[in-house]
Amino acid sequence: MIVIPLDNRRVALRWATPRDGDLLAAGFQRLSAESRRMRFFSAMPRMPDSVKRSLLSIEPPRHFAVVAFDMDTLDDTSHSPFEAAIGVARLIAIPQRAGTSEFAMTVVDEFQHHGLGHLLFELLLVAADHVGIHTIEADVLTENGAMSALLHHYGSLSSHPTRDYSTTHMSVAVAPNLSAISAERRAAFDELIQLERRLTRVAPSS
Ligand SMILES: CC(C)(COP(=O)(O)OP(=O)(O)OC[C@H]1O[C@@H](n2cnc3c(N)ncnc32)[C@H](O)[C@@H]1OP(=O)(O)O)[C@@H](O)C(=O)NCCC(=O)NCCS
Repeated sequence: MIVIPLDNRRVALRWATPRDGDLLAAGFQRLSAESRRMRFFSAMPRMPDSVKRSLLSIEPPRHFAVVAFDMDTLDDTSHSPFEAAIGVARLIAIPQRAGTSEFAMTVVDEFQHHGLGHLLFELLLVAADHVGIHTIEADVLTENGAMSALLHHYGSLSSHPTRDYSTTHMSVAVAPNLSAISAERRAAFDELIQLERRLTRVAPSS
């Protein structure tokens, strides 16, 4: 686990494992219906087992995910670690397209708008580069203002509405965005990456 300062708080990051089912389910229950809809395109009241299984099919470097915790909640023994989990971000390789992965991320509602989305996205960029992924992409609901606003900060972003305009395919080139990440964050992300031996370095691009 590593700890990073963020907006007067401390955020702990660790890699998700296939045993994190209860953690994921608890985090899901804390999301508003709107956040569930933005993430899963449906305001499902409970996470279906099929979705849970696929989110837990973690097998780096093909599929890896990071979980973020609020350190103050984690330190407070009156709270469970489940209550401390505040976000998750993942990368899943697209088998038919070498060098490309699909990304997804969620921040629990009470911690949104504090920069955690950007922090997790930067980590995905560094980890993607580390394992030789040059492009990360996602289909985002076109009405998802937060995700669109976040991604528009990154260079080499291409976005194309799908046929019915309900979703937009957003794709970000990894390498051009690495130099904008602060040296402190880069060092922390590198330390985290070293903790997962299956994230073998493929080809440094910067
Ligand atoms: C998208 C999401 C991960 C962003 O997380 P976050 O921690 O709030 O992100 P940040 O605070 O780093 O930045 C969010 C940006 O969106 C902006 N934003 C937030 N809500 C917005 C809205 N409704 N409309 C427009 N912009 C919005 C913020 O002002 C910020 O913009 P900035 O970078 O110019 O300051 C979070 O909102 C979330 O989990 N949403 C539900 C699930 C989801 O949509 N996942 C994405 C599917 S891949």
